[in-house]
Amino acid sequence: MHYTAIIVVGARPNFMKAAPIFTQCKKFHEITPILVHTGQHYDKELSRVFFDDLKLPKPNFYLGVGSGTHSEQSGQIMIEFEKILGKLDPDIVVVVGDVNSTLACALATAKYRCGKHKYSPVIAHVEAGLRSNDWHMPEEVNRRLTDALADLLFTTELSGQENLVKEGITSDKIYHVGNVMIDSLLSYKKQAEKSCILEQLKLKKIEYAVLTMHRPENVDAKETLAGFLAAFEKISKSIKIVFPVHPRTKKMFDRHGLKTDFLKATPPLGYLDFLKLLANANFVLTDSGGIQEETTVLNIPCLTLRENTERPVTVDKGTNIIVGKDPDSIVEQVGKILSGERKRGQMPEFWDGKAAQRICKIVFNYLKV
Ligand code: UD1
Repeated sequence: MHYTAIIVVGARPNFMKAAPIFTQCKKFHEITPILVHTGQHYDKELSRVFFDDLKLPKPNFYLGVGSGTHSEQSGQIMIEFEKILGKLDPDIVVVVGDVNSTLACALATAKYRCGKHKYSPVIAHVEAGLRSNDWHMPEEVNRRLTDALADLLFTTELSGQENLVKEGITSDKIYHVGNVMIDSLLSYKKQAEKSCILEQLKLKKIEYAVLTMHRPENVDAKETLAGFLAAFEKISKSIKIVFPVHPRTKKMFDRHGLKTDFLKATPPLGYLDFLKLLANANFVLTDSGGIQEETTVLNIPCLTLRENTERPVTVDKGTNIIVGKDPDSIVEQVGKILSGERKRGQMPEFWDGKAAQRICKIVFNYLKV
């Protein structure tokens, strides 16, 4: 038997998760992996750089969907992805993470197979079960609904498994396999050391902090953004803050006319440059999901600029502290880190570089029967 497996990517945090799955799938001669890029992210810095850094081949299909409101973007992805399903009639569709492309492609697949006798294409969700319990986050909507549609749910941490079982998903569908994003981190860490980004930005190891911020709830409202900036301005008196700026955040700085000259802003960085920047930082301030996990593995203190996390293992075992949005608390926590109070992390279970290998074995065995 021969199987066709579509692997979907759409936005920046998908690429480092899909790359090891694509590579491992190729090791099974019975599986042909097909890479579909929805085009949710299209700028070179948010997309093509990652294909180059992670040695991902050019996508087999590029849907060119681009930006829009959530419904416009999701609807357009569904319309275009349905055409690919019709063309290939794949055996399995693998979606990763929690972006709009994740849910839109899972939903299009679920609709495509309606009325068929077999559950084919199978829907697999990688990074299943994470929950912030905050339905105002678009990612939470994407996670919950994708998990409800999936036949195979691959979790990165035990909380994921527990959440899914609580929601009534039967345990025979759930596989705790570890973290594919950490597969990429571990396999590219050595290569990232060769990046010249510190020289280019005139930085020295430990003598700077890294900041990333792009969540709508943090950057869209002027007052919230200004509160963060007030905290960062205070912190910048003690340590340089390097800030690769996401296009959404840049738009908001321009729209609100806010001053950011106390930050060392850069355009978004590629995978290897960013990994090098993180690995050598004193600490990290972020509202990203993935960076909470990467800093845990790199053993770099991470202050998460949110009220919650869907990745509790990074707090329980890792270097992450949920610091929230209050400027005084942010400044206070940074003060503790700079005075030597640094949280040390342990590696969560199965964050060992072999998650994609486990996933592909399970997928193959599932398709065979
Ligand atoms: C998306 C994901 C988010 C993820 C983030 C990582 C959803 C709902 N959100 O958020 O989970 O953490 O990616 O980056 O899927 N833009 C560009 N160039 C691009 C893409 C977008 O300039 O290549 C601008 C557009 O003006 C767009 C805005 O950024 O309106 C937001 O893009 P969008 O994909 O809607 O959401 P992100 O904020 O990037």
